[in-house]
Amino acid sequence: MDILPAETELWQYVEKTLCDKAKCYGFGQLRLPTFEYSELYKRGVGQTSDVVQKEMYSFYDNDKRNLTLRPEGTAGVVRSVIENSLVNEAMPLSLYYLISCFRYEMPQTGRSREFYQFGAEVFGADDPSCDADLMTMVDDMLSTLKVNASLEINSIGCKRCRPLYHKALREYFSQFKDQLCPTCLERLETNPLRILDCKSPICKEIGKNAPSTVDYLCDPCEKHFNGVKSYLDAAGLDYKVNTRIVRGLDYYQRTVFEFISEDIGSQSTICGGGRYNGLVAELGGPDISGIGFAMGLTRILLAMKNNGVSVEGTKPHIYLASMGENAKLKAFVLAKELRKLGITALFDQVGRSLKAQMKYADKKGVGFSMVIGDSELENNKAVLKNMLNGESFEVELAAQEIARAVEI
Ligand code: HAM
Repeated sequence: MDILPAETELWQYVEKTLCDKAKCYGFGQLRLPTFEYSELYKRGVGQTSDVVQKEMYSFYDNDKRNLTLRPEGTAGVVRSVIENSLVNEAMPLSLYYLISCFRYEMPQTGRSREFYQFGAEVFGADDPSCDADLMTMVDDMLSTLKVNASLEINSIGCKRCRPLYHKALREYFSQFKDQLCPTCLERLETNPLRILDCKSPICKEIGKNAPSTVDYLCDPCEKHFNGVKSYLDAAGLDYKVNTRIVRGLDYYQRTVFEFISEDIGSQSTICGGGRYNGLVAELGGPDISGIGFAMGLTRILLAMKNNGVSVEGTKPHIYLASMGENAKLKAFVLAKELRKLGITALFDQVGRSLKAQMKYADKKGVGFSMVIGDSELENNKAVLKNMLNGESFEVELAAQEIARAVEI
């Protein structure tokens, strides 16, 4: 995916806002490799997920190792936390990341094969207040970015109560064996929960009357889910319990949630996440809990733009036009000194005529321009022109003075 300079200002604004917010909630940044052993995703994300079954970009390297471009961040974070012994740090451990991900999906608005995620994970906090705090952080981030999205939550139980729910789902969906899509027929055996996430209109319709997860929760899971709701209520967050949210990755247990935007078309899930107690142990670490989320940055930007949010692109402060080789040398040196003072300064690097230089400066939308020629060099003074209002005044050919003038 190409992101052009006209767009990157908004990207940088979004990324900075998200990182700054995450810091306020006690998160530190983790930077991850772009590819991992394929085995990590098979074990971490799960064999019955669409991501592992159909969407991974996997390849063999020269040493015949099977590697995969990361389709998501959580499995890599868990791997890193175990490998770097972060599990021994004071818990809870809160980490965030900004990554590109790769999934072989059908591209459409808001869905691409390479996309960017901002994600966050918390380890070692099983209390419902942690789930609610994470959702509060997402809500805080989205409202700061002026993105409208509604929160939907569910609990999909744990290892203890899930088998009972699976049994109920199998019984229900078995009645419709002749109508389910071939993938869901397979899911009926391997992971019937995933049928609720099927995109096929017929499976979706059948799924509408399927048993609800929340009716099969064991006591601790029910207590936990009630706790999450109480904390969300205390935080004043609007949410809806949607018992059809099961999420597309296999590692989730208990709380799952999504933030949905009505402003961006069919790919409306801006953010998805949930609890994954058991994953750290599954990947070879101690038995500590985990919860997290990831938001799709393309979708955030789409929602912002559809809401009319824009960020004024930075224009160069000054263009130093020159006539003659000595003047160009002066412009070159002045530009260097001005940049040290934080001023965006441009000068002629292609040997244009003065007229062509001024045309270029205009196209670049510079705030000020200055022409340096022999007489300016002799007097060590030049005329600074404000390109917006046409006003001109004389300044010394000294970086400090020019910087003061263009920053007014
Ligand atoms: P996910 O729901 O697969 O969860 O992806 C999270 C978000 O990434 C989605 O809500 C969406 O905004 C964005 N996204 C996903 N696929 C695409 C795509 N092809 N094009 C554009 N945007 C996309 C995860 O990835 C989990 N790792 C989240 C998580 C973290 N759960 C716990 N911790």
